[in-house]
Amino acid sequence: MFVNVEPLYASIVEDVRTRVSNLPRPPKLAVVTFQPDPSTQSYLKSQEKMAKRLGIEYAVFEVPKVTELKQILSKLSTDINIDGILLTHPLPNGVSEFELVSLISPEKDVEGRNPHSLGSLMYDAFAFAPCTAEAVVRIIKYLTEPAGKRVVIVGRSVTVGKPVAMLLAQKGVDATVTICHSRTPDIQLITKEADIVVVAIGKAKHLTKEYFKPGALVVDVGINVEENEIVGDVEPSVAEICELTPVPGGVGKITTVVLMEHVVKAAERRILGK
Ligand SMILES: NC(=O)c1ccc[n+]([C@@H]2O[C@H](COP(=O)([O-])OP(=O)(O)OC[C@H]3O[C@@H](n4cnc5c(N)ncnc54)[C@H](OP(=O)(O)O)[C@@H]3O)[C@@H](O)[C@H]2O)c1
Repeated sequence: MFVNVEPLYASIVEDVRTRVSNLPRPPKLAVVTFQPDPSTQSYLKSQEKMAKRLGIEYAVFEVPKVTELKQILSKLSTDINIDGILLTHPLPNGVSEFELVSLISPEKDVEGRNPHSLGSLMYDAFAFAPCTAEAVVRIIKYLTEPAGKRVVIVGRSVTVGKPVAMLLAQKGVDATVTICHSRTPDIQLITKEADIVVVAIGKAKHLTKEYFKPGALVVDVGINVEENEIVGDVEPSVAEICELTPVPGGVGKITTVVLMEHVVKAAERRILGK
C-alpha cells in the first residue's frame, strides 16, 4: 500500500507555526539563485507560498554573475537580519559547488550542504542535515522503529544517499545500513534482504517488485518527469507488496516543511540562543 505522510506533514507544519509565533520577529530565509530556469522559478514560487503560510520572511537574490554569487553568499552569511541561506540549482558551469556552499556560514546552512554541516553528521554533533535526507529519516521514524532494522540505500549522492546512511547509522537510531550504487553487482539480491529500502537514483520507475521483500518499507526519493508526469524511481505496483511512499506527495512534501523547520531552528538559535 501507499504510505500516507499527511499526518506527519500536518504535525511539522503545526509545530513550525507555533515556534514562529514564539519568536520576537519572523525568521528570514534568503534564497540565492543564478539564472533560474523555469523549473527553479516554479520551485521558488511554491516555496515562497509555503514560507508565507508559516510566517517566514522570504527574500530572493537573483544574481547574474558568478563573482557576485560568491560575494552575496559571503555577505548574507554575516547579515544579522538573515537566519537561513538557500542556494538553488542549476549552478553556473565550471563553478565548484563545494566552493560555493563553503561560503555559507554553518549556522545559516539550512540545506545542510556546507562541508562543516556534513562533517558534523559524522560526529553526531548538531548541524542542519540535508533536508531530503532528514525527510527520509523522519518518514521512516514516523512509520517504524529503525533500531535493529536492515536498511539498504540505493544511491550515494552527497545530499541524499550518504547523509541518509549517516543519520540512520547514528547511535540512538541504530539501523544496520548498506549503501548500493551504479557499480554494485546484483543489487536485487541485496535490496531483497532489507526491511527498509531507500531509493534515490534518478531513474524513472527503475526498481520493480522483484527488488523487494514483501512487507518491506520502501522510501522513494526519486523525482523524474515521464510523459509530462512526475514519477519516482520505484515502479508504483511495488505498493501491492510493500509499504511505498508516493511520488509526488511523499518525500518531496516532507522535504519542503523540513526546510522551513530548519529556518525556524536557525532563528531560534540566533535570537533565543537555543
Ligand atoms: N524528493 C526530494 O525532495 C528530492 C530531493 C533531492 C533529489 N531528489 C530526487 O532523487 C533522485 C536522486 O537524486 P540525487 O541528487 O541523489 O541524484 P545523483 O546525485 O544523480 O545520484 C544518483 C545516485 O544513484 C546511483 N545510481 C544511478 N543509477 C543507478 C542504478 N541503476 N543502480 C544503482 N544506483 C544507481 C548513482 O551511483 P554512482 O554514484 O555510482 O554514479 C548515484 O550515487 C533524483 O530523481 C532527484 O530528482 C528528490
